[in-house]
Amino acid sequence: MRKLIPTMAAALMLAGCGTPKVATHGPRAPRTGHAIFSAAGCASCHTLGAAGASGDVGPNLDQAKPSAAQVAAKLRSGGGGMPSFSGRLSPSQINTLAHWVASVASGK
Ligand code: HEC
Repeated sequence: MRKLIPTMAAALMLAGCGTPKVATHGPRAPRTGHAIFSAAGCASCHTLGAAGASGDVGPNLDQAKPSAAQVAAKLRSGGGGMPSFSGRLSPSQINTLAHWVASVASGK
């Protein structure tokens, strides 16, 4: 199963639905964690109850309960089948998204 994950992720990216383009500036740029999660397509790969997401390519974030620092690091560098979002989201969007995911995933 582990070996399948990068293949599935690559297929999703080729299909163009895994990582949609997100506005990083201007009035159309999403600014809340929930909006950024939706706009960036995290839901196509991850389960996160607070976002109504049930993807199963990557880890279930409700179970992984990553800290904000872990989410931010993963978003910047990607790896293991997870695309990097450093060129797709602004640093402040990454920060907002990381804190939102960490807070809703931990249930705090
Ligand atoms: C194309 C599929 C895909 C997309 C889109 C995606 N991820 Fe991932 N993500 C993965 C995979 C696969 C892993 C596991 C990587 C590993 O094992 O190192 C992962 C790992 C993670 C982790 C680490 C989980 C842990 O157990 O520590 C976090 C946090 C995360 N993703 C958040 C996000 C967020 C937030 C988004 C939206 C900006 C996102 N991901 C978009 C596939 C994806």
